[in-house]
Amino acid sequence: EGEVYRYYADGEWRASASGKSVAIVNPTTRQTQYRVQACTQEEVNKVMEVAKVAQKAWARTPLWKRAELLHKAAAILKEHKAPIAECLVKEIAKPAKDAVSEVVRSGDLVSYTAEEGVRILGEGKLLVSDSFPGNERNKYCLSSKVPLGVVLAIPPFNYPVNLAVSKIGPALIAGNALVLKPPTQGAVAALHMVHCFHLAGFPKGLINCVTGKGSEIGDFLTMHPGVNCISFTGGDTGIAISKKAGMVPLQMELGGKDACIVLEDADLDLVAANIVKGGFSYSGQRCTAVKVVLIMESVADIVVEKVKAKLAKLTVGPPEADSDITPVVTESSANFIEGLVIDAKEKGATFCQEYRREGNLIWPLLLDHVRPDMRIAWEEPFGPVLPVIRINSVEEGIHHCNASNFGLQGCVFTKDINKAIMISDAMETGTVQINSAPARGPDHFPFQGLKDSGIGSQGITNSINMMTKVKSTVINLP
Ligand code: G3P
Repeated sequence: EGEVYRYYADGEWRASASGKSVAIVNPTTRQTQYRVQACTQEEVNKVMEVAKVAQKAWARTPLWKRAELLHKAAAILKEHKAPIAECLVKEIAKPAKDAVSEVVRSGDLVSYTAEEGVRILGEGKLLVSDSFPGNERNKYCLSSKVPLGVVLAIPPFNYPVNLAVSKIGPALIAGNALVLKPPTQGAVAALHMVHCFHLAGFPKGLINCVTGKGSEIGDFLTMHPGVNCISFTGGDTGIAISKKAGMVPLQMELGGKDACIVLEDADLDLVAANIVKGGFSYSGQRCTAVKVVLIMESVADIVVEKVKAKLAKLTVGPPEADSDITPVVTESSANFIEGLVIDAKEKGATFCQEYRREGNLIWPLLLDHVRPDMRIAWEEPFGPVLPVIRINSVEEGIHHCNASNFGLQGCVFTKDINKAIMISDAMETGTVQINSAPARGPDHFPFQGLKDSGIGSQGITNSINMMTKVKSTVINLP
């Protein structure tokens, strides 16, 4: 306790006039680890004003200069990987090595975004009029992509750095200003990341980072008239945001229930390895985690045994020790997961391991013979608990996948490429992975959730395009 980390506005670090702070509880020790400022609505207003002014000048800054600054920030971010990773370990209990990877991946993402931006934004379009009936060639339309204005970026706790820069990079290269509202868990890592952009020398006011309670500034930010675009990743608060937001482009990624469909001819060792990696990396706290296994009955016993053997080898403990399974982010999250486990128990699921929990730490658990009447067949635990549903036909698997409210990713395991493509076409999800667990990266791939999983496509290229609008000038000849 003691020090309260400052928020970032108009190029400087400030203490909030509220005199209040928000505590960040370390998921492992369950003690307050850090404190951040509880910003007020007036402070948000001020930030919106400075962002608007800074954006106008930034939009006139040559594209190559914007790219140069982003490359600089990317390099500084990578230099700061150790202290930022340490924050991720303390704030969100991300295993030590994964925490470092998150920062390095973020630096790479920012560099790639700078390069992609100079290429795609360096091109415009010329249209001539006589292709449309009734026109002569007397009109020339010049169109190019121009920034939207001020982008509000709200990343989630599970990637407070990476899912912040995946919004910041595209916004900045496209000429927008930025207001970042980091998640409470992960806010200090995010502030440190912002510090790297500060050191890179971006103009003041262009990037701002406000911290505080969602109840105090959440709606105020998302409904603020100064916001020209919202890019949000998180839970179903995104649905509430999209209902309240004004007439601004929205990019939302709101979780998933990614299915893993396993056919009889699959490479079963590959399946088991991907179920463990896909279901249990970062203790299942990824929106692209495998969240339900839909497996053909004839191979289910073998795969369940293989997965059990692998789960027994996972290390369970503190993130500092780089344990495979670490405490989930909050006590309420652990309680929610436990609720799903108890429901499954009452309804007769087979427990492949004994359910074990200490504080926020939940031991990896595979639940076999899960049926559609159990909550865990449909809900997203966001924890190290994975249901297995045995199926008797591929259609049954596709049906379960498509009956979900979510539609982020999914995967199918088979050696028959024709079947794999047909199943992919039938699955109502943004992405289907063939013979691998779902994942967002590589970060330039499109990333889009269908249904309640979101709106607007992400991935570096799509995000840059999404954060622009088309401006046209028509030359009319006499
Ligand atoms: O949960 C956030 C989502 O974007 C997952 O990313 O890289 O773990 O597939 P990744």
